[in-house]
Amino acid sequence: MFQADRVTEALPRMYAPQLRTVRMKSYSGRYPAARPRRLRQNNWVRRLTRETQLSVDDLIWALVVHEGAEDEIPVSAMPGTARLSVRAAASAAKRAQELGIPAIAVFPFIDPAKKDASGREALNANGLVCNAVRAMKDAAPEVGLMVDVALDPFTDHGHDGLLKDGRIANDETVKVLVEQAIVQTRAGADIVAPSDMMDGRIGAIRAGLDGAGFQDTLIMSYAAKYASAFYGPYREAIGSGKLGSGAAANPGDKRTYQMDSANTDEALREVAMDIAEGADMVMVKPGMPYLDIVARVKAEFGVPTYAFQVSGEYAMIKAATQNGWLDENRAILESLSAFKRAGADGIITYFAPKAAELLGA
Ligand code: PBG
Repeated sequence: MFQADRVTEALPRMYAPQLRTVRMKSYSGRYPAARPRRLRQNNWVRRLTRETQLSVDDLIWALVVHEGAEDEIPVSAMPGTARLSVRAAASAAKRAQELGIPAIAVFPFIDPAKKDASGREALNANGLVCNAVRAMKDAAPEVGLMVDVALDPFTDHGHDGLLKDGRIANDETVKVLVEQAIVQTRAGADIVAPSDMMDGRIGAIRAGLDGAGFQDTLIMSYAAKYASAFYGPYREAIGSGKLGSGAAANPGDKRTYQMDSANTDEALREVAMDIAEGADMVMVKPGMPYLDIVARVKAEFGVPTYAFQVSGEYAMIKAATQNGWLDENRAILESLSAFKRAGADGIITYFAPKAAELLGA
């Protein structure tokens, strides 16, 4: 007899999802005794046999804040989203709390006049991010607040790191990121999420936070973050525009620090290092084009694993639904439940409030 469970145990954990499929195949009968459609014939049995569940508990709401007085400045490449004033962000946090959304990820649109090559505005304890975090915490104390640790919203060249002789200066950047994480945590951030992809930053940030008395602050590492075309609309949203061509090795792109989209073993190495350095949660980004990475990371490490449905994924769904080519509500829920099926524990998404409404209905 085929002892699938034995085989499953004997093989590396990373193959578990595939093997589950093999096992199910071997246990299913043959037509006509077996008719898989019996299990699909109506809603109650489909619900009863559903293998994964998407719920509001899985959502982290990605939103962009700005410093101005205008409550909402629409982002044209991401229809239905807007940059929010600090006041509007506080209302959004309240709305998240009412909808039961566990956490919000905040991204800043920094006034271009405040940007420079060093991104020093990132360390301003009275700057936009810290002000937004304080206002949101105040308005909705039950909602977890996640902040982006990276310099790109603050640098005039748009890179996530500092440039030295036209190259990214990894270790100098890490020192600034540690300070940024501490400043944001002081303002009330619950999760710091380094999205910069510098080497060694998770360990340095953990040590820095611990040294400052913040041993309970969570770190969600953008562990496997790819150099991707799907971040396009985000550049408009946060106003980071075209990358400066200062970086000789990578004029105009982030390929010397973000991962090559062809790689998967490398993602496992990145995740392993970040866990060893103290990451509590790890992320794969972008989301839908990288579901294989989500599945592999979750199967291999079994740690809390998140996927970021990025700006370009949002924009694609919106563009198609606005043209009447896709049904919006179904496309949103199907895309989000795909992350759960792949093994993600949660999803960072601009659709969070809409999805929460749909799931609550
Ligand atoms: C950069 C950062 C990016 C996003 C979040 N943090 C863009 C990039 O790496 O160029 C992308 C988010 C999105 O596209 O929705 N630190």
